[in-house]
Amino acid sequence: MRMPERIVMNRRARGGNPLRGRLIFLATRNIHKFNEARRVLAEYGIATAMLRMGTLEVQSDDLEEVARFRALNAVEKTGLPIIVEDAGLFVKALKGFPGPYSSYTYRTIGKNGILKLLEDVENREAYFKSVIAYSSPEEPVRLFKGIVEGVISLKVRGSSGFGFDPIFIPLEGDGRTFGEMDVDEKNRLSHRSKALRRFAEWYKSRSEFSPPSSQQ
Ligand code: IMP
Repeated sequence: MRMPERIVMNRRARGGNPLRGRLIFLATRNIHKFNEARRVLAEYGIATAMLRMGTLEVQSDDLEEVARFRALNAVEKTGLPIIVEDAGLFVKALKGFPGPYSSYTYRTIGKNGILKLLEDVENREAYFKSVIAYSSPEEPVRLFKGIVEGVISLKVRGSSGFGFDPIFIPLEGDGRTFGEMDVDEKNRLSHRSKALRRFAEWYKSRSEFSPPSSQQ
């Protein structure tokens, strides 16, 4: 099996047999996603390695379909057990836009473009959705989802995180945007952490999972 060239390992992953069910590869080029994921999964004793690889994208308005396709493609390329994650921001007053087109929207009109579209709009409700797709050479794709409800702020606030973090105020928070929170605070509330926790519970419950303490 040929290992991809650039793998960033979470320190906890070093030592022991890394492929015994407690190491997972996250295929992404987004270091923020990786940092969020590795911190959540570490709580479950799962180490995360970052596979800096591109995956084929399908044109679809369905996050699940995109994630499923990318996971299959990543496993085919690497032969490793892999998760990929696809997320999007869904704004109610914009009928769910940008949703699955969040990445393109961020690169083109950006956070300020969304604020502009919502100028004078009273209903600022929005949610982030995350879909994690897990697959391995022996297993079919499994999907795990997470949603966080919130509102779009009136202006850009904070510089932490990435993407639309500085304009999203989670309802269950204290009024700050994700951009005003550190990664652990965001992880207590975010769509991604919810999907990751669902994945981790399932991954841990599999019979071949052996917790770090029982490794030799
Ligand atoms: P991706 O295709 O899953 O990387 O996400 C699409 C786009 O949605 C990203 O480029 C970000 O702009 C936005 N996005 C996804 N997740 C988050 C998040 O947790 N915070 C802020 N923006 C996000």
